[in-house]
Amino acid sequence: MIATRNTTRFLLILLVGYFPFNISANVVPAAGIATAHPAATEAGHEILAAGGNAFDAAVAISASLAVVEPMSSGLGGGGFWLLHREKDNFDIMIDGREKAPKAAQRNMYLDEAGEVIPGLSITGPLSAGIPGLPAAIVHLSKKYGRLTLNTSLQPAIRQARNGFKVNQHYRRMAEFRLEALRKSPAAAAIFLKNNQIPEIGTIIKQPDLAITLELLAKKGADGFYKGDVAKKLVKGVQAAKGIWSMADLASYQLVERKPIRSEYQGIRITSAAPPSSGGIALTTLLNILSGYDLKSLNNTQRKHLIVESMRRAYRDRAIYLGDPDFVKIPTSTLTSQHYAIGLSASIRPDKAMPSALLPGIITPPRGQDTTHFSVIDKDGNRVAATLTINYPFGSCFVAPGTGVLLNDEMDDFSSKPGTPNAYGLVGAEANAIEPDKRPLSSMSPTFLENDRGIVVLGTPGGSRIITMVLLAILNYADGGSANSMVTLPRYHHQFLPDTLYYEKAALTEKEVQGLQQRGHQLEALKSSYGNMQVVFWDKRNKRITAASDPRATGAAVVR
Ligand code: GLY
Repeated sequence: MIATRNTTRFLLILLVGYFPFNISANVVPAAGIATAHPAATEAGHEILAAGGNAFDAAVAISASLAVVEPMSSGLGGGGFWLLHREKDNFDIMIDGREKAPKAAQRNMYLDEAGEVIPGLSITGPLSAGIPGLPAAIVHLSKKYGRLTLNTSLQPAIRQARNGFKVNQHYRRMAEFRLEALRKSPAAAAIFLKNNQIPEIGTIIKQPDLAITLELLAKKGADGFYKGDVAKKLVKGVQAAKGIWSMADLASYQLVERKPIRSEYQGIRITSAAPPSSGGIALTTLLNILSGYDLKSLNNTQRKHLIVESMRRAYRDRAIYLGDPDFVKIPTSTLTSQHYAIGLSASIRPDKAMPSALLPGIITPPRGQDTTHFSVIDKDGNRVAATLTINYPFGSCFVAPGTGVLLNDEMDDFSSKPGTPNAYGLVGAEANAIEPDKRPLSSMSPTFLENDRGIVVLGTPGGSRIITMVLLAILNYADGGSANSMVTLPRYHHQFLPDTLYYEKAALTEKEVQGLQQRGHQLEALKSSYGNMQVVFWDKRNKRITAASDPRATGAAVVR
């Protein structure tokens, strides 16, 4: 799934031939969009064609994905939008992460014996944080867009009303959450057919969601966080033993945060700030790897070092990271070269370090949920956005009359420090539950910039997001393309469990043996993971390419 457009380039070459001026290296030859669903990619291009910029397109795509990819993101969820405005070279991250309700308590998912009650932080409204996505897209439109919010939301409103077709991915995810979806009559009425998984090609219409989107379009954030929609959300949540209040919704605030910057082999990396762990963990990883000449190593040595770096960065993630509005994160230490040198000192080239021997906290990861999209417009503005409702179909709860499927982002907190969440991730005090706090995330929307060009990338995949983005960065550093970044086979280590997971194509038999000899515990995955979306502005060849992960059914279109 790769698309390139050379027509504009051809026209530019013709113009250069006729007129005595230099085409700036910064002329963008076309707009590129890669998303996890063809209808969302089309929504973005429709809004660009209507005169919108990348930020308007991002509003349209976020809202469209909320409709056509309900298992991954939505108005009932949140996300991070990494923005670059070309005219003043301005980068910012919009943090539209969910917040814990005010009545949330540290031990809310524990039984009397202090043990985690299975499922409570994953299914039903008690697992839902206060959504940030509606506030974020309103802000994105009003502060950065060129078109009205109403215009940018029209494709999603149309899609909600006219419906979208069930595909294989939808069926798989619905099967995974079938029992949970059946527990919420309003969710089952929308996403199931007679309480069963709908057949491929079934049209899913969401008239209530269309009305909620229209209210958002008309009234802005108040259309969701106050008034009728808010009342229905709170009534539905409380009737099902949830703890949301009107004050929770009315007081939700998004935050603009300075992204985390790092550098690797001359590539400038801009990525997500806390409450995402992505930018800091990527910086630690790349700082460690900068200390080695990876090109001089054979594949097994190279992969061993990368895995040892992953182990150490994920250990720090578990100990130090959380919502920066609640905990003091030692960012400058964790992102310093000196600190990375210290971490490297314990890496042996011939031996894996068991995670239990690294001081820290004492996890099977899954993750085809969440979604990512990448956009570059013809002015060079760009958006990398990773959005989520956490688990597939989130909490599987829809508040009656709203069409809004609620997230289960509360599971991204450490319900009990040291006990793994749904992704097998462990956490510490820094990520304990507190009222109004944002749960730690792995979502890592990222920009890469060097002489070759600019890359906008990201992927869903729960705890594996950061290592997928790392492998893509290393591939780009080796001269990789948009296509190779989304295609390359993946492997992952997250400190605990002390296991190196890999897609079968990621390691040869010889590499498996070499890694086992070094003491790594390996597990070949039965299925692939991730759904990376990349747009690459190749400045040297004056070309935009876009690629959507071949593991899924997204669409990358350059126009
Ligand atoms: N819910 C997945 C993440 O935020 O990392």
